[in-house]
Amino acid sequence: MSKTLVIGANGQIGRLLVQMMCEQQLPVKAMLRKAEQADKFEAMGAETVIADLQAALPDAAFADCDKVVFTAGSGGHTGADKTILVDLWGACRAIDKAKQHNIKQFVMVSACDAGDPEQGSDAIKHYNICKHFADKHLIESHLPYTILRPGRLTDDRFSGKISTTRPADKAQQFISRSDVAACIVQSLDHSEAIKQINELYQGTTPIQQAFINAIKGRLG
Ligand SMILES: NC(=O)c1ccc[n+]([C@@H]2O[C@H](COP(=O)([O-])OP(=O)(O)OC[C@H]3O[C@@H](n4cnc5c(N)ncnc54)[C@H](OP(=O)(O)O)[C@@H]3O)[C@@H](O)[C@H]2O)c1
Repeated sequence: MSKTLVIGANGQIGRLLVQMMCEQQLPVKAMLRKAEQADKFEAMGAETVIADLQAALPDAAFADCDKVVFTAGSGGHTGADKTILVDLWGACRAIDKAKQHNIKQFVMVSACDAGDPEQGSDAIKHYNICKHFADKHLIESHLPYTILRPGRLTDDRFSGKISTTRPADKAQQFISRSDVAACIVQSLDHSEAIKQINELYQGTTPIQQAFINAIKGRLG
């Protein structure tokens, strides 16, 4: 069975994702920054590897994995310099390393305004530009990619229902981290998710059906 390397596993989406994967007996390796973070992941049944996106990534992290999920980020509490170093350059490092290791699917957790940073908020334009170019680097790498572009993340309970259509009302452009984690699991499980870019929002369509509808919409 294929093994997935989760980069940013100790983050809020990352933890939910690793937990969901372990519950579903899906082999997963959690990439962490600190050794003391490892125990709780190993208790869930995940493998762990210690690495920092601001340094060279170890080949051993990727060597026995078939898929990679990138859900790391410098966070809103850091400055634009860290956004460039982690969200952009760290993502590019991970993509290049995935390419070297012939990874079969790279799932990127991007952001809803990464497609067109000009349309997003001026306050986080630098962030959306970093996400934009990380996504572009992934697409141009020719790795089999899946790009997920969630709206504002909340800690609401898991609903299992989403929309891939952007709500007109900005206040409605949000989604829970647990629903994003479930969308990642869904993407890893379906080859149709390859070469797909989907925005993700709270909604009323079951996750699997929402992905099918999005793909059909593009084909039709
Ligand atoms: N916040 C939003 O509304 C929003 C909207 C759309 C998309 N997103 C994106 O969604 C993704 C996940 O969000 P989240 O809320 O789960 O984020 P989060 O809780 O801040 O988690 C980010 C993770 O990245 C890790 N990280 C930071 N710098 C690193 C480095 N140099 N090397 C390795 N790992 C590093 C952190 O490690 P530590 O645990 O060790 O600190 C943490 O585990 C991010 O890419 C974010 O940009 C966010």
